[in-house]
Amino acid sequence: MIARRSQSELEKMRTSGLLVYEILQKLAAMVEVGITTNDLEVAAEKMMADAGAKPAFKGYRPQSAAVAYPFVLCTSVNDEIVHGMPSKARTLKSGDIVSIDTGLSIGGYYGDSAVTVPVGEVNESVKRLLQVTKESLELAIEQMRPGNRLSDVSKAVQSHVEAAGFSIVKEMVGHGIGTKLHEEPQVPNYVDRRHDNPRLKEGMVLAIEPMVNLGKADMKIKSDKWTAVTKDGAPSAHFEHVVAVTANGPWVLTRP
Ligand code: MF3
Ligand code: CO
Repeated sequence: MIARRSQSELEKMRTSGLLVYEILQKLAAMVEVGITTNDLEVAAEKMMADAGAKPAFKGYRPQSAAVAYPFVLCTSVNDEIVHGMPSKARTLKSGDIVSIDTGLSIGGYYGDSAVTVPVGEVNESVKRLLQVTKESLELAIEQMRPGNRLSDVSKAVQSHVEAAGFSIVKEMVGHGIGTKLHEEPQVPNYVDRRHDNPRLKEGMVLAIEPMVNLGKADMKIKSDKWTAVTKDGAPSAHFEHVVAVTANGPWVLTRP
C-alpha cells in the first residue's frame, strides 16, 4: 500500500524537507580542501539539535542491515556510492567528490535529501558525472504527475544516464517516505518488468535518488557493513529529493 498524504501532512513534510535543504546548503558551503567528513557530521548534528529535529539515519537499522547506522550523515567520497561513514581520518582533497546525504523528522514527518559536491578542482569527466546525475533527477521529478507510472520516473533517470555513457546502480533504490524514512514503494533508477509499476496518484510522496557510476555498474559493501563502493574503483554520484505528486504537478519538498 502506497500512502497518500493530505495537504496538511504534505505541509508537515515540507517543514522537514526545507530544514534538510538548509542543512545541506550549509554543509555544501563548508566543503573545501582540508576539512574532514567528521567536520560535516559535527555541524549537521548541531544544526538538527538546534532546530529540534530528530536525525533519521542515526540508529537506523533496516531489516537488511547487520548493524545500526551510527551517524546523522552519510558522506560518500569518490568510489563510495552511498552510506559512507563520516570520519576524522577522511580529509577531503582537491579532485574529490563527496555525496552528503541526510534525513530527519519533525513531529513524526520525514525529509531526506542528498547532493554531491566537488572539492577544489575536479576533472571534466567527473564534472559531467555530477551534471548528468543531477539532470537525471530533474527529469525524474518532471514525471511525478497523477496518471503517470512509477516506471516513467525510473525510465527518465535511466535513459538520461545511459545516453551519457554512465551506469546505474541497481542494488540501491529510492523509496516512499512520510511517517517513516522508508515506505513503499521502492523507486528503482532503471526499468525492469519484474518491478511493481503502480500508477502515481495525488498525495503520493517519493524520495528519488539516482546513484550513477562513471565506470561499471557493479558495487559491493565494505567490511563496515554499510559503505557501498564501486567494484572498479571509479567515482559515483548521488542526488536525492523528496517529491510529492499533486494535481498541479511535482512538488519538490526538499527545496524552496
Ligand atoms: N538516503 C538514504 C536512504 O534513503 C540514506 C539512508 S542511510 C540509513 O536510504 F542509515 F538511514 F540507512
Ligand atoms: Co533516501
